[in-house]
Amino acid sequence: MGKAIVNGVGSYVPSTVITNNDLEKLMDTSHEWISTRTGIHERRVIGSTENTSDLAYKASLLALEDSGLTPEDIDLIVVATETPDHMFPPVATRLQTLLGCRTIGAYDVHSTCVGFISALQIAELYINTDKVNHVLVVGADALSKIVDYTERSTAILFADGAGAFVVSNIMDSKSEGIIDSTIHSDGQYYKDLYVIGDPNGSDNSKPKIKMNGNKIFKLAVNSMSTSVKGLLKKNKLHYDEIDWLIPHQANQRIIDAIARNLEFPSKKVISNIKYYGNNSAATIPLAFAVARREGKIKKGDRIVLTAFGGGLIWGSLIFQY
Ligand code: UT7
Repeated sequence: MGKAIVNGVGSYVPSTVITNNDLEKLMDTSHEWISTRTGIHERRVIGSTENTSDLAYKASLLALEDSGLTPEDIDLIVVATETPDHMFPPVATRLQTLLGCRTIGAYDVHSTCVGFISALQIAELYINTDKVNHVLVVGADALSKIVDYTERSTAILFADGAGAFVVSNIMDSKSEGIIDSTIHSDGQYYKDLYVIGDPNGSDNSKPKIKMNGNKIFKLAVNSMSTSVKGLLKKNKLHYDEIDWLIPHQANQRIIDAIARNLEFPSKKVISNIKYYGNNSAATIPLAFAVARREGKIKKGDRIVLTAFGGGLIWGSLIFQY
C-alpha cells in the first residue's frame, strides 16, 4: 500500500483586484457592511484574456517546481472546478497539454467548494492502491464568470484563483501523508446554492449563482464542524495533535463559528478571506500556499482541511505535511 505525501504546493491569483469600495460603485452596499458581515476587503478576478485553465496552469507550474518533479513525472491530473473554460472538455486535459505531460489520465471533478478535498481524496486512493506515483491535484475557479454583479448578496463574496498540490507516493517519508478523508452529501438543499442559466444564452439568461445565504451559512457551520469532529474521532486524534485547521474560505463569521464549535484556538485557524474572497475549489490550496509562504505552516505539521458547498456537499481531510 502506497503513502500519499503532499510533495509540492503552488498557487496563483489574477492581478486584477476588486475592492469593497469598487463594489460600492456598482451596487447598494458598503465596505463597512461587507467587511463586518464577511471579513472580505478585496478579491481577485480574471481579465478578459484569462480563463480557469490559465490559473490552473500557473499554480501547477509552481507546485511542480516546489516538488522538484517535471511534467513527465506526473501520472494523473485531477482538477477541481465549477467554472471550466468550456462545459467540456475538462480543464485537466488542457492542463496536460499546456504542461507537456505524457498522455496520462486527466479529468475534472465537479463537487463545488469541496472539489479540492474530493480531488485530494482521489489522489489518496490512487496512491494507496499503488495505481500511480505522482498526482497533480488542482483547485481552480473563475467564479467572476458566473457572478451576477447586480446581486449584492453574492457579488461581494465570490472571486477567482487557483492552487495546486503534487501528491506523491513516498514510502520512506517521515511524514504520515494523507491520513484519512471523508465526503458527504445531501441533495435536499440542491436549490439553496446553485447556478441557473444557459451558457449559450443572452446576457439576461447567462449562468448566475443563486444562493439562500442565511440557510447556507447555518448548514456550513454545522456540516464542517460535524465532519471535522467525526474524522478526528475515527482516527483517534485529539485537537492538541492538530497544528492547523484550514476551512473553506466562505465567510470569516463561518470560519470563526467552526473554530468556536470545535473549541479550536483561532490562532491555529488559517484564514486569508480578507484578501481573496471565496474562490470555491481554490480556497484551501491557496490558503495553504499563502500560510506556508508566511512561515506559518511547516513540514511535519498536522493539518485538517474542511469544506462545504452547493449540493449540499461537505467533507474533511487530515494530512501531515
Ligand atoms: O462557498 C459557499 C458559498 N456561500 C456561503 O458560504 C455563503 C453563506 N452565507 C453568508 O455568507 C451570508 O449569509 C451573507 C454574506 C450572504 C449574507 O450575510 P447575512 O449576515 O446572512 O445577511 P442577511 O442575508 O441576513 O441580510 C441582512 C441584511 C438584509 O437587509 P434587511 O432585510 O435586514 O433590510 C440584506 O438585504 O443585509 C442586507 N444585505 C446587504 N446590505 C449591504 C445583504 N447583502 C448586502 C450587502 N450590502 N452586500
